[in-house]
Amino acid sequence: MARILLGVSGGIAAYKSVEFTRLAIKAGHAVRVVQTPDSLNFVGKSTFEGITGAPVLTGQFERDPAGGAFPDQPRPAHDPIGHLELAANCDIYVIAPATANTIAKLAGGFADNMLTALALSCRKPLLVAPAMNNEMYVNAATRENIEALRRRGLTLIEPETGELASKGEYGIGRLPEPATLLAETERLLAGAQAEFAPRSLDGLKLLISAGGTREPIDEVRFVGNRSSGRMGFAIADEAAARGAEVTVIAANVSLQRNERVEYVDVGTAAELQREIETRFDACEALIMAAAVADFRPVEPQAGKIKKRGRESLAIELEATRDILSAVAARRRPDQVVVGFAAEAGPDLLAEAQRKLEQKGLDLVVANDIADAAIGFESTENEVVMIGADLRPERPPRGSKRLVAQAILDRLERLAGERREAGQTG
Ligand SMILES: Cc1cc2nc3c(=O)[nH]c(=O)nc-3n(C[C@H](O)[C@H](O)[C@H](O)COP(=O)(O)O)c2cc1C
Repeated sequence: MARILLGVSGGIAAYKSVEFTRLAIKAGHAVRVVQTPDSLNFVGKSTFEGITGAPVLTGQFERDPAGGAFPDQPRPAHDPIGHLELAANCDIYVIAPATANTIAKLAGGFADNMLTALALSCRKPLLVAPAMNNEMYVNAATRENIEALRRRGLTLIEPETGELASKGEYGIGRLPEPATLLAETERLLAGAQAEFAPRSLDGLKLLISAGGTREPIDEVRFVGNRSSGRMGFAIADEAAARGAEVTVIAANVSLQRNERVEYVDVGTAAELQREIETRFDACEALIMAAAVADFRPVEPQAGKIKKRGRESLAIELEATRDILSAVAARRRPDQVVVGFAAEAGPDLLAEAQRKLEQKGLDLVVANDIADAAIGFESTENEVVMIGADLRPERPPRGSKRLVAQAILDRLERLAGERREAGQTG
């Protein structure tokens, strides 16, 4: 996969960078870490060295025992200048957390420690994740420094709003969760690689549904599900990197968005159905990755149902329309339709095959919801794919981006066959 250089500066969120490093390595990346001297007050070198299996540097005058090599590279025979070699070897430089102080140095072009010197010498994509107290973040100096970085083409990942480290404080400045940081890193990497890579899905009009629908019980409550939208968004990112024209119908997804992808936000199964049906004829391939409600309350109540005086509450549900069967029934022969099946345990394959045949799909991607390490809210996934030949294909377990690649490899073959059949037929 990729060589990620991680720069850690001195903020409380440095602990999240430890988890980011672990997730990145688990996803198959090679990681080297540099730290500012002040960040050692928050996380020690040994933690990162233990996880990455490589030395951590803070100053430019330290000798790098690895000679600037990443864990997957051989150590060079000579002793290169550390900040130049690491910058040349990495595929991306992620600075997370980036303190107000480090951001000011980056904006000013300072190079007084390993992290800042690397930022000046690195010509690879730079991803900067600011994290600080609300007051520091909204301060005019920080705002101007961040804008200066943006103008220079660095990618900034917005901090989140929520509880801050200092007791009782709430506001903007939280470092996003490590899985979000990794997804953003992989997205930027894929974008950079796509500049040079052959665009294997060039111009393919791809419609994807993602997330989970919510069916109102009253104006406050809903019947929903645990789908986060990560899998559908990962497919969209990967497809856009391969040159596809992607539209995502997103049901209640609060993940980072990709500027190369068009998003249409929906809430309920009926809204999702309407958007898919409106856009289906114009697409060449549809991937239904959203978890769509099978049932919805028959009569959603106005206002909020009161608890007062009630011992119980019965809500009558009615079946929703099966969107996939409806669109598959009216598809043209040149369109590819892919469905997802989430099932628990041994029935998985049988259920996937049933869906494939009954709904007339080209491919079913099935995942086992009984395994808590994969699926819904997790960053990893493991799937089985079944197509017309009924031979199960099991790509290796990995990040959702990796699984997205396997699904799109399969889609590429299917779309290629359809295009060829269209030309000869
Ligand atoms: C307990 C504590 C927490 C801090 N958290 C942050 C933070 O989250 N973000 C930030 O910009 N600065 C934070 N600071 C201030 C930085 O540590 C300080 O500006 C430091 O000089 C940054 O150095 P560096 O950018 O070279 O790592 C914190 C300081 C302390 C004492």
